[in-house]
Amino acid sequence: MLKWKQQYSCNIVEIDKQHKTLFELGQKLYDIISLKDDFDHYDELMNALEEMKNYTIYHFNYEEKVMEQYNYPELEKQKKEHKAFIDKIIAMKKKDIDEDQYKVCMEMLMFIADWIEKHILKSDMNYKKFLNEKGVY
Ligand SMILES: [Fe+2]
Ligand SMILES: [Fe+2]
Repeated sequence: MLKWKQQYSCNIVEIDKQHKTLFELGQKLYDIISLKDDFDHYDELMNALEEMKNYTIYHFNYEEKVMEQYNYPELEKQKKEHKAFIDKIIAMKKKDIDEDQYKVCMEMLMFIADWIEKHILKSDMNYKKFLNEKGVY
């Protein structure tokens, strides 16, 4: 589930690298959530979520800068999607996940994994040809 696959490739080295890191951070979240010991992993989880949020912001900014530089026509659509996702993560962090931690976090992670996969496969894939044709690889 949280593994980068060749089909996610946008054929742009730096962006593929960043997408891979996003999946790795998702996997890290999954690993923490799946720990079945008796310890409370709340802080660890919040840190991992913060890391995910920060890297996602970094990636979105990078992507938007490249799209802007080449006048990509769907920039505004991408910006809207990116912002909605960050807002959602911020809202999740504010939510009280102390109770039934496992269930809430799993749902959260499912949302993140699903969103990233769909966004890469639909929206990001749309700039692949456009940017490649401008010489961005
Ligand atoms: Fe992306
Ligand atoms: Fe994107």
